[in-house]
Amino acid sequence: MIVTTKELFQQAYGKYAIGAYNINNLEQTMGLFKGNVDSQAPFIVQLSKGARSYSHKRMLEMMMTTADEIFPDAVFAVHLDHGDEETCMDCISSGVYSSVMIDASHHPLEKNIEITKRVVDAAHAKGLVVEAELGLLKGVEEDVHAADHVYTKPEEAEYFVKQTGCDSLACAIGTSHGAFKFHGDQKLRFDILAEIQKRLPGFPLVMHGSSSVPQDEVARINAAGGEIKGASGVDASQFLGAAKLGVTKINIDTDGRLVWCRVHREFFRDHPEKFDLRDPGKVFIPEYAKFIAAKNVLLGSAGRLGEVRAALKK
Ligand code: G3H
Ligand code: 13P
Ligand code: ZN
Repeated sequence: MIVTTKELFQQAYGKYAIGAYNINNLEQTMGLFKGNVDSQAPFIVQLSKGARSYSHKRMLEMMMTTADEIFPDAVFAVHLDHGDEETCMDCISSGVYSSVMIDASHHPLEKNIEITKRVVDAAHAKGLVVEAELGLLKGVEEDVHAADHVYTKPEEAEYFVKQTGCDSLACAIGTSHGAFKFHGDQKLRFDILAEIQKRLPGFPLVMHGSSSVPQDEVARINAAGGEIKGASGVDASQFLGAAKLGVTKINIDTDGRLVWCRVHREFFRDHPEKFDLRDPGKVFIPEYAKFIAAKNVLLGSAGRLGEVRAALKK
């Protein structure tokens, strides 16, 4: 069942976070749905601009509606990840997405508000909800490069949410996208989340760049011919602490890519004679499902499907 993120956040707020997982292809989609149904978790499917152009945006939309049919137990939102205004408008009119992210965080505050507000108005008119972003994550976010973190300012967050009417807010607290997040100890600014929660009680916050980059996964990739050096991620034991401070959505993409990379490197190392793409695919789908189910336990979303379904019926 496709629902809005708002409906999921209402249930999760203060207790647990919903996993928001990026997908690009058929195998990821099958593993993602299987893993969430197996672990009885509501979830968010994220489609990035890159994913939409990798195959075709309509192909991904059809996969979402088909997955909805073949996994009747799944409760999920279909969400555009890091959209610009044009892409948001296309998703709003698609009839498949239930949520879009407008990422105008690289613009000055008033311009970010102006663009976000236009998207919010268009989305709300069609029953979709909107995630916006304030602050910049260090590194590359879609086409924008930030040399350092620009942490979200709590007073600006309060003003921004009131001006735009957005439904959730991505905050920059020290995470970054990709597999190389920290040099030395990780420093996440939970004090910023606490201050935003004080100013915006009950308002859903989002953590981007939250892959954990498991060291055993990186080691297996490297043992099978990879060369990934100096990778590090977010300590997943922090997820529930973030949830208590109002984080209802935690974005994970890189960890899924690492699972894909490990399975395929090991498969072709161990079976040099094989060349049928379905052979590693048959290994990847259940491995990805296992990964998703384990992640949902850490997020606290595993086992919540029953209560979420009951709340949706009311
Ligand atoms: O925030 C970025 C996500 O990990 C999506 O990555 O733009 O390469 O699809 P992508
Ligand atoms: P990771 O690169 O840490 O998986 O973050 C993904 C993300 O924030 C997608 O928007
Ligand atoms: Zn992101």
